[in-house]
Amino acid sequence: MKILVTGAAGFIGSHVVARLLQEGHEVTGVDNFDICYSRGQKEKNLMPVLLHPQFKLVEDNLADMALVKVVKGTEAIVHLAAQPGVRGSWGSSFHRYVTHNIQVTQRLLEESKANKLKRFVYASSSSVYGDIAPQEGQDIAILNEEMMCKPRSPYGVTKLAAENLVQLYHQEYKMPTVSLRFFSVYGPGQRPDMAFNRFCHNLLHDAAHTIYGDGKQVRDFTYVDDVVEAIAASVTSEAAVGQVVNVGGGSPCTLLEAVTMLEEISGKTCPKTFLERQKGDLFSIRADTAKLERVFGTKPKTPLKEGLQRQWEWMRKFVQAEDEEQAIKAQVQPITGVDEAVLAEAKADEKAHKKAARKAKKNLGKEVPGGLD
Ligand SMILES: NC(=O)c1ccc[n+]([C@@H]2O[C@H](COP(=O)([O-])OP(=O)(O)OC[C@H]3O[C@@H](n4cnc5c(N)ncnc54)[C@H](O)[C@@H]3O)[C@@H](O)[C@H]2O)c1
Repeated sequence: MKILVTGAAGFIGSHVVARLLQEGHEVTGVDNFDICYSRGQKEKNLMPVLLHPQFKLVEDNLADMALVKVVKGTEAIVHLAAQPGVRGSWGSSFHRYVTHNIQVTQRLLEESKANKLKRFVYASSSSVYGDIAPQEGQDIAILNEEMMCKPRSPYGVTKLAAENLVQLYHQEYKMPTVSLRFFSVYGPGQRPDMAFNRFCHNLLHDAAHTIYGDGKQVRDFTYVDDVVEAIAASVTSEAAVGQVVNVGGGSPCTLLEAVTMLEEISGKTCPKTFLERQKGDLFSIRADTAKLERVFGTKPKTPLKEGLQRQWEWMRKFVQAEDEEQAIKAQVQPITGVDEAVLAEAKADEKAHKKAARKAKKNLGKEVPGGLD
């Protein structure tokens, strides 16, 4: 199948690309290498697949590019590109969440309408639920897809708005959509703003852990391969069409228990500082995976300790390489004695090159067929 993966250079996206290529699909990845975190990490994410003959990377912004370039001829779209992160969604950055989460999704759905897609898979989030009280007999809220969603963060609001758009296009245009609600995904390549990545970083640099709240909040941590499994299945499963499905579970535990596991794995400990719970953070939650099992015949199976071990091994190598790069950069001496005229010429060349690139990009935008926005 010809599959378009948006957010291909990101944490989950790069794993998805690798898996789809392994299955023999032809994959186009789009990513704008958003400034949300380092370009270096995203380039490393893609390193294993970059030279694969069935893979093509398009570096562009889905918010304003001519989508026809990547959607035409595509049979399935796995839409992962987004502005993620609960805490950053308050305040002046909110417009980024509206653009990258809602508007980009709407643009892709509109462009897909005419293309007779076999599947449109949308990456939704457990953040759409908000705080739901545990039911009688439960000590933790177990979230199922029938529950009313009342997001507690602006991020959750934008993810739910986009999920609702996806459902609308399914109802009104019979688009074969699937929305998957991911629960706290972890593993090699995890975003640097996420808790496990930070904990590993602290352990490697002997820094203190900062924990929001008392650390007793339970999460249904989900190993990235288990998420990829559900995504790959939803690309072909007929039973999944039109559905919203939780992808989570397998490893519910408190944040503190996860920290202890990481300390056991690394053989190190760090002091812990507890700060006030952040606005938008959910209390304890678990995923009801009955629907996931019913639709896909599978559920997340990687034990937390095993997944954390793999993330730790990846982090160790990644941080070591990063530290070495920094050390080399610090040693590089600035070049002196360059002829001023040569320098001026080089600067003028660079300026002209940038101007030409801007002009080319502007012209590219003019190829957009009418009615896209
Ligand atoms: N990681 C989790 O725990 C988690 C949980 C729930 C839902 N999700 C959802 O899964 C998806 C992937 O999350 P992730 O953790 O891999 O995030 P990520 O930031 O690592 O990946 C997202 C990628 O999308 C790209 N991108 C963003 N806006 C773009 C645009 N306008 N045009 C082109 N590329 C763009 C970014 O550059 C980035 O590489 C997101 O939709 C997120 O909301 C993630």
